[in-house]
Amino acid sequence: MSRGRAKLEGIFNHDVKLVGGSTVKADEQYLRNSILNPASQVVEGFQPIMPTFKGQVTEEQLNALVAYIKSLTPNAAASTAPATNAPAAANKPDAKPAANTTAPMAVANSNK
Ligand code: HEM
Repeated sequence: MSRGRAKLEGIFNHDVKLVGGSTVKADEQYLRNSILNPASQVVEGFQPIMPTFKGQVTEEQLNALVAYIKSLTPNAAASTAPATNAPAAANKPDAKPAANTTAPMAVANSNK
């Protein structure tokens, strides 16, 4: 059941149903676009109330947000490709410090 996803956990590389009936895969491009142009791909069951963060986050912050959202999907960092023949990296913690953004919402909350 994918009507109205309320969480970002597990979203990366999974299909998202949009208003209008189309489906997109939540890859990096989709996540970036969802942050910069939220109204352009609105998730089914939601209103387009998300504000754009264009001009408010730097490229670096945008990358950190995308990395953080990716980290909410188990194995996302290890397998950008379909996980069918994933190498034996399953037990290896990913060495990349991609997800050390503990409080990404602080970015949005920094206005007074
Ligand atoms: C840095 C802050 C934020 C990030 C990184 C972020 C990220 C995202 C992403 C990735 C999606 C797509 C979710 C999906 O496909 O299931 C989304 C959707 C959504 N967001 Fe945000 N969001 C942020 C802030 C906000 C804020 C401040 C609001 C409301 C005031 C908001 C409201 C929504 C709503 C209603 C949707 C679903 C409808 C749509 O696709 O536009 N978000 N957000």
